[in-house]
Amino acid sequence: STDTTPAHPAWLPSSAFAAVGRRRVAVRGDGALVGTIAAEVAGATAAHGGSFTRLDPGSGVGDADLVLTLTEDDDAPGPDDGGSACDAEDESFRLLRDDGAVVVQSASDRGLLYGFFHVVRLGEAAFTGPDAVETHAPATPLRMLDHWDNVAVHDVMGQVERGYSGGSIFYADGEVRADLSRVEEYARLLASTGINRVAINNVNVHAREARLLTDGLPDVARIAAAFRPWGIRVHLAVSFAAPMTLGGLPTADPLDAGVARWWRDAADRVWARIPDFGGFVVKADSEGQPGPFAYGRDHADGANLLAAAVEPHDGLIHWRAFVYDHRQDWRDRSTDRARAAHDNFAPLDGRFADNVIVQVKHGPMDFQVREPISPVLAALPRTRVALELQVTQEYTGQQKHAVYLGRAWSEILRFDFLAGAATPPVPEPGTTTSSDIPPGPTTVAGLVANSGGLVAVSNAGDDEFWTGHPFAQANLYAYGRLCWDPAADPVGLLGEWIAMTFPGAAPGVAGAIHEILDDSWETYELYTAPLGVGFMVRPGHHYGPDVDGYEYTPWGTYHFADRDGIGVDRTVATGTGFAGLYPSPWREIYESAETCPDELLLFFHHVPYTHVLHSGKTVIQHIYDTHFEGVERVERFVATWSEARSSLPADAARLAARVTDRLTEQLRSATDWRDQLNTYFLRKSGVPDTHGRTIH
Ligand code: GCU
Repeated sequence: STDTTPAHPAWLPSSAFAAVGRRRVAVRGDGALVGTIAAEVAGATAAHGGSFTRLDPGSGVGDADLVLTLTEDDDAPGPDDGGSACDAEDESFRLLRDDGAVVVQSASDRGLLYGFFHVVRLGEAAFTGPDAVETHAPATPLRMLDHWDNVAVHDVMGQVERGYSGGSIFYADGEVRADLSRVEEYARLLASTGINRVAINNVNVHAREARLLTDGLPDVARIAAAFRPWGIRVHLAVSFAAPMTLGGLPTADPLDAGVARWWRDAADRVWARIPDFGGFVVKADSEGQPGPFAYGRDHADGANLLAAAVEPHDGLIHWRAFVYDHRQDWRDRSTDRARAAHDNFAPLDGRFADNVIVQVKHGPMDFQVREPISPVLAALPRTRVALELQVTQEYTGQQKHAVYLGRAWSEILRFDFLAGAATPPVPEPGTTTSSDIPPGPTTVAGLVANSGGLVAVSNAGDDEFWTGHPFAQANLYAYGRLCWDPAADPVGLLGEWIAMTFPGAAPGVAGAIHEILDDSWETYELYTAPLGVGFMVRPGHHYGPDVDGYEYTPWGTYHFADRDGIGVDRTVATGTGFAGLYPSPWREIYESAETCPDELLLFFHHVPYTHVLHSGKTVIQHIYDTHFEGVERVERFVATWSEARSSLPADAARLAARVTDRLTEQLRSATDWRDQLNTYFLRKSGVPDTHGRTIH
């Protein structure tokens, strides 16, 4: 536990500050976060032999190598400066490099903090690069992480739901921790990637956690105070039934005046205590959580109730779209979980208040290693929409497997709903689908940028390395960086993480980590559920293979494998119609097994094992080949690491050992996946492997 072992510095070890720390640095301006920057610079220069000057506003900057300054009247505008953006919420910064001297300017202290970490990331290159004037601004103002942390240890889920990194950094022994120093370190890590909002409790709000909203407020205020110096605002997940469970009212009906009053009073109390509080996150009518359905109301009624309560405080409501029937009868082939969020939310477009953000998981099912993009993201042109990702690796190896998700997220963010089509398609008469997507950018990143931004479930806990698998830190890092710049090259971001986390390590170490992580998402896909079909995991905890684990359950996650074939028919012609929820050309692309991308074939189509993929292989041979190849790749990871770890410095011994342990487990588990999947499909299909390899 962290009581005895100090937390790993992750991507901010002291040596990552060497380039800044050995220079003459001046910090100029007033503002809470300028104090944070000044303390960072003071620490770095003290450690690395440079000098630090704190300047009053208006004073000259002298001959410093690096000046970090709030914008002042006499600051000459740069060539690509679009005017003086003095908006308090402006998070942009400008970097000017002239003959090796660097000035970072921002109109806001938050922008200046991001500019400081930008220089830290660049290291020596910040000072040795060519003369430049650059403006940097985030793609979206809403860059958020959700924690699924419980205050009390929950009987089924433990403390952190789907947490693979030990306990919570916020809570211990059923209370908010007295010592929040770990939260401060976490806030610093997040700020360095650009994250600016954090929800601190589980979307499944149990009884103890519900009370954070009321008698827990002084403790929430302490957590907010730990995040504040890093420009991060705190949000709470709340229970829709709170007026009853906490307020003793007879109803939580969103149209009841007493309920509305209760929420307004609750919000007033929160903001009185925490003036920069962010808002509420709500999981309603989803997997047993209470919601508006009990009163015959819909999600817009529910969300707008809370929106009105927080509106006087400029608060936000993140209302989750993860709504489906989790008590489905597997015999019922007409119900398709993939359709559920669209069916529930698309008809409500235009009814949500301006401060409601509908939070949509990236895929229509549940954070599988491969899913199509949720059509809901394009189906709500008159609603603010956020993309929800899962940094915690519930379905991608649970931080036992080395899986870098930056490439997966990059692909999601770049997905273009019009697939580059020049003009939006003309809606078909009488269509109820999402053809009329708004003008403007039609990529996922573009759709959410000026709308609801990005949200992801955090993977951090009180583990020594923050994330269980030390390499899973790279996912936390990349998520923040992709929020800031969704167009960033994800392998480049991985390189940044490696360079900062292992500064000064032998060059072979970075190469080895790249070798393991660059294609690790694809590797995980190879040895798990094939061709987008998903969910062949052990029910409940979701780790390890179990092909039929969910097949006859109420959860709506089926693969329909029989002796002849496999996959879910989601076509309009003969299936559930899900493919028709996409705008053209995707609806046509997905509708036909001929044009559907291989990696999603079984998500959209039920095909014979002998169906030939675009790759030229049959489905059954693809299953065999990918499962053998996946394990071979993991064998190579193990070998690569065992060679590289000898080049790590002695102080990285614990980290190296942890990685070795995890890789050992990954190989065991991948082998299990390979053998169970191959054996299952050989038994079902009776079709042998053309290469005659061992299938048990
Ligand atoms: C998944 C996960 C749950 C979680 C849910 C959600 O189903 O397994 O633990 O509560 O997603 O996103 O609400």
